[in-house]
Order: sequence, then structure tokens, then C-alpha cells
Amino acid sequence: MRSRLVRSKLLSSVADAVGQTPMVRLERAAREAPSVEVYAKLELANPGGSVKDRAALRMMTRALDDGRLSGDKILIDSTSGNTGVAYSLFGAALGVRVQLVMPSNVSKARKDITRAFGTEIIFSDPMEGSDGAIRKVREIVAKEPEKYFYPDQYSNPDNPLAHYHGTAAEILDQVGDRITHFVAGLGTSGTIVGNSRRLHEHHRKVHCVAVEPADAFHGLEGLKHLASSLVPAIHDERAYDETFRVTTEQGLDMADTIAREEAMHIGHSAGAVVFAAIEIAKRLHREQQGGCVVAIIPDRGDRYFAPMKWEKRYVW
Ligand SMILES: Cc1ncc(COP(=O)(O)O)c(C=O)c1O
Repeated sequence: MRSRLVRSKLLSSVADAVGQTPMVRLERAAREAPSVEVYAKLELANPGGSVKDRAALRMMTRALDDGRLSGDKILIDSTSGNTGVAYSLFGAALGVRVQLVMPSNVSKARKDITRAFGTEIIFSDPMEGSDGAIRKVREIVAKEPEKYFYPDQYSNPDNPLAHYHGTAAEILDQVGDRITHFVAGLGTSGTIVGNSRRLHEHHRKVHCVAVEPADAFHGLEGLKHLASSLVPAIHDERAYDETFRVTTEQGLDMADTIAREEAMHIGHSAGAVVFAAIEIAKRLHREQQGGCVVAIIPDRGDRYFAPMKWEKRYVW
């Protein structure tokens, strides 16, 4: 009720629409664990369509407040995913010029969505993937550091802090003392680290679970297989209690199940998070412990649709 009131307020900027996301009970999908409540926190309801709105907005507003970012600087980073969409949206909202470096072979949809907000794209070598884009952005910034603000979400403490002060506080408001388990995917690790730190300060124990892809080569976009990746500077494995590994197929299948049974079309990494949440709920039910599991749904499934042949084409 509380979040419904907040969401019905008149806002002065789209930036004020970030957060206060709804939480929906997954009753049908979790029917094998009837003694356990499983909730999906719908981060797809943020204005940029993903959980990354929270981190991007806090990284930008904090930098504007302390002068690292100002009207004459360009925000530059190397993401073609949800963080890129969030930078582009808030760049338009806050009057900040945004440049994103991405491999030239990313999908047309990825280029179009960020360009729609006025973002400029710089292409890196497609053969070098996302690491090539990171190297290129670092070269550009090193040449003219005073010209740019480089938020670098992998080492920026405002990324987990957005969840510590925002998402986790909302969850405690929404389910209160009932929460026993928290489940989130691990990408930069901002979501799992920031939420877990806050939930561990709660006066009752909350068991926090990070979801990782089971294999180094996986299709769970946004998620990191830590053992085979560069570990982000903001990652802190002491912040959470358990790592749950999910295959790409389990994530895809669960995303389909949630669309059909719960009428929510979520992304496949979100499917992986829900898969883990339901397995944990089944474990609690078998052990007759009961409980309340909260799962973070980072984005919607339609973000991953390949451009279709019958899609409407615009001529500019
Ligand atoms: C699409 C997507 N983006 C990002 C993340 C991870 O967020 P973070 O970078 O905060 O770890 C997830 C986690 O489930 C995700 O599915």
C-alpha cells in the first residue's frame, strides 16, 4: 500500500521515479513450497527498465554533488547493457552529455535504445569484446582526464550504496520481519553486496544468496562467473552467506515459466534468480522451516528479443 502511494505521487523528474518498486508473490511457480512465501521484487519497474537505474543514478548524482561531474564534462563508460540505458536516460534528465564505448557488433537494438536519449556511441574492436571496450575507454580518459567523468561501476562504492540505502530499506518496509532469505544475481556485485550488508544489520538473521552462472561460458547476460572473471573491486564475499550456481537453461526455462504462470515476462538472468529462490524455498519446505524468500528481478525479457524480421522499420 505504501509503495502504491509513493508511485502515485506527481514527480518533478523521471529520476524521482527510481525505486519504490513493487513486490509480487510467486504463488503458482512456488507451489511445491506452500509453507514458504516467495516474493519477486520488480526492479524492471524502474524508468530505465532495470535494477541498474539505482546504481547509475546514485553514481551520477553523488558525482554532481561533489564536483567530479559537471555540465562541461562528459560521462563516459563502456557498457552496452542495462547500465548504459540508465546512464543515457539520466544523462538526458540531468543535462549530462553521455558517451558509451561498445564493440561494434553489439545488436542494433542496443545501439538504438541508448542513442534515443542522445547518447554518443564510440565503437571498439568487435574481436576484443567487452574487455576491448574497457581498454578503449581507459585510453580515452587517460589522454584527457579533465574532460571526462568515468563512473566505473565495478569499483564505485555508490553502486552498492544505492542498494544499501534504497533497495534493502524498501524490502524491510515491504515484508518487515518476515524475511528469512534474500536472493540476487551477481554482476558487478553492487546488488548482492549492498543489499546483504543492510539486511545483515537487521535484528533478525537474513540469509543472503548470490546467484552465479554454473559455467564460464553462459548466456545469463549481466551475471558474472567469478572464478573465470576479473573480480570487481566492490565485490566482498564476506557480505553474503551462500553462492548458488544456475545453468543458462534453468534461467531460460524459469523465465518462460514465470511468463506463463505468473504473467510477468522477465529476463533470463532474472529467471536464474527465481530458479535459485524457488529451490531454496523447496529446501525450507522439505525441512519444515517455513520462511520468506525475496528475489530481485533485474529486468524484463523483451530487452533480449532479437530484432524481428517483421519489426517496423523507420526511415530517418
Ligand atoms: C540483467 C542483469 N543485470 C545486472 C545484474 C547484476 O547486478 P549487479 O551489477 O548489481 O551485480 C543482474 C543480476 O541478476 C542481471 O540479471
